[in-house]
Amino acid sequence: MTRSSGGLNLCVLASGEGSNLKAIIRAWKSKKIKSRVVLVISNNSKSGALRAAHRNNIPAYHLSQIQFNSEKKFVDSFLGLLRKFEIDLILLAGYMKMLSPKIVKRYKNRILNIHPALLPQFGGKGMYGMNVHHAVIESGEKSSGATVHFVDELYDHGATLFQKQVGVAEGDTPETLQKKVLKVEHKIYWEAIKLIEQNKVKFAGRKVVVEA
Ligand code: GRF
Repeated sequence: MTRSSGGLNLCVLASGEGSNLKAIIRAWKSKKIKSRVVLVISNNSKSGALRAAHRNNIPAYHLSQIQFNSEKKFVDSFLGLLRKFEIDLILLAGYMKMLSPKIVKRYKNRILNIHPALLPQFGGKGMYGMNVHHAVIESGEKSSGATVHFVDELYDHGATLFQKQVGVAEGDTPETLQKKVLKVEHKIYWEAIKLIEQNKVKFAGRKVVVEA
C-alpha cells in the first residue's frame, strides 16, 4: 500500500485539541515515519486539530452531518475527499463521531483509532475522553495505557495493533493519568503507522499479526 515516497497518504479525523495529530506531524517532520498527513477532517469548526492543520499547510475541512440535508450526501462528500487526496490510511484521533458503515467498509483494515486505555477494558459507548480516566481511577486498577486498534462497525472493537501500559500511582487523579497516557499515545500512534508503512501488519481473519 506504500507510495513511491515509501510512505502512506494519511487522513486524520479529529474533534478536539489535536495533540495526537500534532505528534504525527512531528514524527513525519523528524523523519521517524515516511507517511504524511495530507488531509485533516473535523466535525468541530473550532477544533485545535483544524488550527494545527492550517499552521502546517495541510488541507483541512470542517465536515459535519448538519451541513447536509441527507446522510448520503454527507457520506458521499466525505468519501469524495478521501478519494481526492488518495488516502491510504485513516487515523481517528479524538474523533467524537461514529464513522459511517459505508466508509468503514470502503476502507476496511485501513482505519485506525487510538484509545486512552488498555482495550478491551474501559472501552465501548460512553468511554471517551476524561470518562475513561475517571473510570480507571474509580476502579482502583494499578495500570492503564493506550491502544491503537483497527476500526470496525462497533465502538472500540476492531483488532488491536499496539498497546502500551502505564502505571497508575497512588494519588493519581483522572487529570494526571490523562497526561501520562497522552504521552504514550503520542509515541505509539506513529509507531503503529510505521509498522503499516513497513508492510509488517498482516490479517488472519479478525486477528492482526505483526511480523518481526
Ligand atoms: C486522546 O486521549 C485519544 O485517545 C482520545 O481522545 C483524546 C484526543 O486527544 N480518543 P487529542 O485531541 O489528540 O489531543
